Amino acid sequence: MKVQVLGSAAGGGVPQWNCRCTNCEAARQPNGPVVPRTQSSVAISAEGEYWFLLNVSADVRQQINVHRILWPAGNLGRGTPIAGCLLTDAEIDHTSGLLQLREGCRFSIYSTSLVHRWLTNDLPIGRIVTTFAQREWIELSADEPTELMLPSGTPSGLEVTTLDVGHDIPRYVTHDSPGQLGSVVGFLIRDLRTGSTLVYAPGVPNLSSSLASAAQNADAILLDGSFWSDDEPQRMGIGPSSAREMGHVPVDGPSGTLHWLASQTAHHRSYVHINNTNPMLYEGGPEHQRVSQSGIRVAQDGDEFDLSAKTERFATERSDHQ
Ligand code: MLT
Ligand code: MN
Ligand code: ZN
Repeated sequence: MKVQVLGSAAGGGVPQWNCRCTNCEAARQPNGPVVPRTQSSVAISAEGEYWFLLNVSADVRQQINVHRILWPAGNLGRGTPIAGCLLTDAEIDHTSGLLQLREGCRFSIYSTSLVHRWLTNDLPIGRIVTTFAQREWIELSADEPTELMLPSGTPSGLEVTTLDVGHDIPRYVTHDSPGQLGSVVGFLIRDLRTGSTLVYAPGVPNLSSSLASAAQNADAILLDGSFWSDDEPQRMGIGPSSAREMGHVPVDGPSGTLHWLASQTAHHRSYVHINNTNPMLYEGGPEHQRVSQSGIRVAQDGDEFDLSAKTERFATERSDHQ
């Protein structure tokens, strides 16, 4: 399985349009200590020809433009190697890119039924996009793996299992009760031919047992790295809620994700969905060093892994190693 990080930042990106925090200011300098990043999305493929997007950010157009693998193939007419889009939740930063991909072609959208409902009734992206192009919506079961299909109807060689990671409700959903199953999930993706596995969990309200058991045998884990500390959103003027109240276990602290991720045996471990206020974005800073010294990558746009071949290419290093 091939894994391409398209966007490694949380909603807002790095730098964010209205933010003058240390990181955003540094990211505005050419070759500064904070590398600019687009919003949260990853592409996966069994064989490198057809790709599935895990979440679709508003930056998807820019992300496609810098990745040749996502360019239309063939020499005539329209087409796309994108065979489907999988949504971990109904957040604006993970779904609004579907509006950018409205100009025809055919691909499927996969989500839980609750996310499908919110994207039909509350943020009606689902209803809107189907008036532009063929978008079959496939609801992911909580118990059974779902095989990802190519538009031709042939199996892609990949299957997805949803991982319950707790409950978080998008801010625009004002009438529903929090705490419903399927509001935010992680994905366990399995390559059926090679057996390689990826855990993708860019939003983690809880380090749940289902996440832990999937992570135990995974070849790669891409985990929620939104905030360094629980009070970061309040301290940085984002709003009144803590990181945990916003549905993100922070990186640092005794029950943070760093201890947990450092103890996993997966060959590749990266933080993704990193908010622009997170100090671990600052290259050479103490937080960045603590993460790197734990064998964990602070993901950058353009990072790529081939889980079957066990090779990795990191965006700034551009060198393969086993
Ligand atoms: C989140 O990751 O918690 C959301 O994307 C935040 C938001 O954009 O409202
Ligand atoms: Mn987000
Ligand atoms: Zn900022």
